[in-house]
Amino acid sequence: MNAPRNFLPTKNSTKTPLAVKVADVSRIFDGRTVLDSLSLDIRPGEFVALLGASGSGKTTLLRILAGLDAPDAGEAWVPEARTVVYQEPRLVLSRRVWRNVVVGLSGPQATRDQAVKALAEVGLRERADAWPATLSGGEAQRAALARALVREPRLLLLDEPFAALDALTRLKMQRLIRDLCQVHGPATLLVTHDVEEAILLADRILVLREGAIAFDAQVSIPHPREAEGQRFDALRAQLLGELGVSVAARAAPNITPIAPRHGAVLLAN
Ligand SMILES: Nc1ncnc2c1ncn2[C@@H]1O[C@H](COP(=O)(O)OP(=O)(O)OP(=O)(O)O)[C@@H](O)[C@H]1O
Ligand SMILES: [Mg+2]
Repeated sequence: MNAPRNFLPTKNSTKTPLAVKVADVSRIFDGRTVLDSLSLDIRPGEFVALLGASGSGKTTLLRILAGLDAPDAGEAWVPEARTVVYQEPRLVLSRRVWRNVVVGLSGPQATRDQAVKALAEVGLRERADAWPATLSGGEAQRAALARALVREPRLLLLDEPFAALDALTRLKMQRLIRDLCQVHGPATLLVTHDVEEAILLADRILVLREGAIAFDAQVSIPHPREAEGQRFDALRAQLLGELGVSVAARAAPNITPIAPRHGAVLLAN
């Protein structure tokens, strides 16, 4: 198996440098091909959302890019500076919040000042000396985001980072991530089941199906985006179609909607 290589675009390259290059990557578990010769390029600063049915291989791809797993075939090039934010914050309970932010770092990046600066960016400056167990779910996830950003990643990998949050906190976190990504400028790969979240945040949306990228489209709706309008609805319908969700059934007149008009469209696992 090949570990992902650090991708260092040459200075005199005539091509646009890439943040991520995945070339014909396959991953096979117990004889079952989960990623099947998958190829993908992500440009620096690009915000890409990755959709796909449960079990389609999204986390597998993300783990390969994070260096936590290696492909059975093919190659992946990634920046050395990359971090992952998971569905759960994974804070060390025995360390104060600020120490969690700089955990594992050394040198000038590892100071309390740096941690507090990062916490201020996510609105948590006042909780720097708190213990993780005293944070709400949304606060803990913001601390996890500060921990990711203090590393100034060139690639930010997000594996359903809002999935465990309530709807209002999720909305605030989505805006925060979008704003912080614009300030810090990493290439971002957001794994999500939420079609509306993908459209609200991403520059580009991918659908993973049968081990490969089956759909790849730029989102041209200007920011800030609202979960409404013709272009939004058309793209949502297209994506739901790609994911095998019947859009017609959603619009049938004898079906009472169970979500508010602007609520998130979540795909069942
Ligand atoms: N270490 C492993 N050993 C065996 N099978 C695995 C392993 N990791 C993942 N798989 C299998 O690979 C498939 C893809 O898993 P993966 O976690 O990538 O899916 P996913 O798209 O992230 O799903 P979800 O949306 O539910 O998180 C699943 O069938 C899973 O059981
Ligand atoms: Mg997953």
